[in-house]
Amino acid sequence: AVPAMATAADHLDWPALREAVAGCRACGLCETRRQTVFGTGHPQAHCMVVGEAPGEQEDMQGEPFVGAAGQLLDRMLAALGLGRGEAAPAQQVFIANTLKCRPPRNRNPSPEELAACRPFLMRQVALVQPRVILAMGRFAVQSLLDSDAPIGRLRGTVHRWQGVPLVVTYHPAYLLRQPADKAKAWDDLCLAAELLA
Ligand code: URA
Repeated sequence: AVPAMATAADHLDWPALREAVAGCRACGLCETRRQTVFGTGHPQAHCMVVGEAPGEQEDMQGEPFVGAAGQLLDRMLAALGLGRGEAAPAQQVFIANTLKCRPPRNRNPSPEELAACRPFLMRQVALVQPRVILAMGRFAVQSLLDSDAPIGRLRGTVHRWQGVPLVVTYHPAYLLRQPADKAKAWDDLCLAAELLA
């Protein structure tokens, strides 16, 4: 069952959603996190990027994708003219994670944790109203598309999540281990960028 706290996210505006995430105790990760990681970027960004969960750096800094995987992600986004800085919404991304809290030792999210945190991600998408969602890695895909299919099979076509075009790609941490797949990920980002035009 989805805990009541996160389900109540449906009616929250952006500041209230931030507060709800910061105070969330809907799953056991609240016992081990240093802090929650809400997400970063423009709240009206045209592109929304969804990763897996905070790692050690993110848990310390309170911002998503600030470690090595994040640097790769930022470089790829920058090559498309996108960033998480101060630009207009069309040149911005909002970066969120499927889980807002770091799993201990970066273990995989559990189904219960994904279910508990999902309403927050849903509400973020509903409020940002992006033109495209870039779902990176299997847990973002599981949470948004409810699919267990491998990334290699889901990438390359445009899916939809509640009407919003959704592009699936490899997680940047995976690309650091498998650089040969970077070219495919680049194609995926270009596909997402086409939907922004
Ligand atoms: N990996 C993720 O999925 N998210 C982060 O914020 C950092 C690394």
